[in-house]
Amino acid sequence: MNSPQRILFICLGNICRSPMAEFIMKDLVEKAGLGGHFSIASAATSSEEWGNPVYPPARRKLLEHGISCEGKTARQMERRDYQRFDLLIGMEAQNLRDMERICGGDPQGKMRLLMDFTQRPGNVADPWYTRDFETAWRDISEGCQGLLQALAEN
Ligand code: 4NP
Repeated sequence: MNSPQRILFICLGNICRSPMAEFIMKDLVEKAGLGGHFSIASAATSSEEWGNPVYPPARRKLLEHGISCEGKTARQMERRDYQRFDLLIGMEAQNLRDMERICGGDPQGKMRLLMDFTQRPGNVADPWYTRDFETAWRDISEGCQGLLQALAEN
């Protein structure tokens, strides 16, 4: 792996999907012995949940898999995140539209959808509405594994 990879995961509220992605990805890179190569964070497109901790069912799902997200609180992404990160990864198509609005476009082609790194591209359904945190876990884990593989091949 070449230069450090700075990755920002993004969803609507930053209390369910993007913090799950943040801490799953941190766990994967640590287990791969690549922790030093990565800087990983997450943020929201909305200001709705600013300052709130990870939503308890999402936190419990991570803990079931031995992953702690202690200390994480939601923040809204800002325009300068575009220069602070190499990849900005949304969970659903509406996130991408909001990310482009916040950043004033994507001139360097840094924005992606998480499930584009899997065999089944599309959205990560929002468990805030579906209440299905197991499906969210499976989708996000698969996306993060595909992302790590894609980065490791470069
Ligand atoms: P997330 O889920 O985008 O995966 O963090 C949501 C959390 C909160 C709200 C919507 C989605 N909300 O409307 O407050």
